[in-house]
Amino acid sequence: MRVLMIGDIIGKPGRSALAELLPELRRELTIDLVTANAENTAGGFGLTPKTANALLQAGVDVMTSGNHIWDKKEILPHMEELPLLRPANYYGAPGRGWMMFGDVMVLNLQGRVFMPPIDCPFREADARLAEAQSELGFAPKAVVVDFHAEATSEKQGLAWYLDGRVSAVVGTHTHVATADARIMPGGTAYVSDLGMTGPQDSVIGTEVAPVLERFRTGLPQRFEPAKGACILNSVLIDIDDDTGHARDIVRIDRRVEA
Ligand SMILES: [Fe+2]
Ligand SMILES: [Fe+2]
Repeated sequence: MRVLMIGDIIGKPGRSALAELLPELRRELTIDLVTANAENTAGGFGLTPKTANALLQAGVDVMTSGNHIWDKKEILPHMEELPLLRPANYYGAPGRGWMMFGDVMVLNLQGRVFMPPIDCPFREADARLAEAQSELGFAPKAVVVDFHAEATSEKQGLAWYLDGRVSAVVGTHTHVATADARIMPGGTAYVSDLGMTGPQDSVIGTEVAPVLERFRTGLPQRFEPAKGACILNSVLIDIDDDTGHARDIVRIDRRVEA
């Protein structure tokens, strides 16, 4: 089984790049499941029902998210009806932290290093894997995890913690793709960060000038997605149906002109 996991979609430029590239990638790579991190889909901050539907129309099966999922209030009443996850360790928040797509469990967690203080992602991973097993009556063989976190150390830590128990741990949140895609000794595919789907001439997707102004003066600025050519960052993971272990993980990175 082949799963494509796509980094944070940044606003309208990211949605357009996704709509242009994903249908072709689906055909070319024979993909069974596509996940995409949707926390920056609406204007760079949060997600709305309309922009969520744009991702689904482009060919995304399951949307994951992170700290920015709460930025647009309109999404709150729809969190359970959409194929949408929020980090499972936001204890008591609306929405859900894992779901099944066919035979695959998709789990979303968020880190705590240089991030808002929330529940422990390590203990949460154990709890949600156990919950899935008791709800389904069997342990799902294929499990892919979007770990939305800032620190590469915390991401590597969770990958070692879950190695052999899940098919993949992929990082999101920094919007910068990393070159460390690998299979861990226990059979878990790992990459520290998928990267993003959004404008390349930017600071992590955002227009450069206001970011520089804030760095230089410390004054609050209005941040908008940048314009111009977009990149799409993702990984393709090949999972053994019998063992649930990953056989391969490769980066799939593309660029489209504006
Ligand atoms: Fe993000
Ligand atoms: Fe984030």
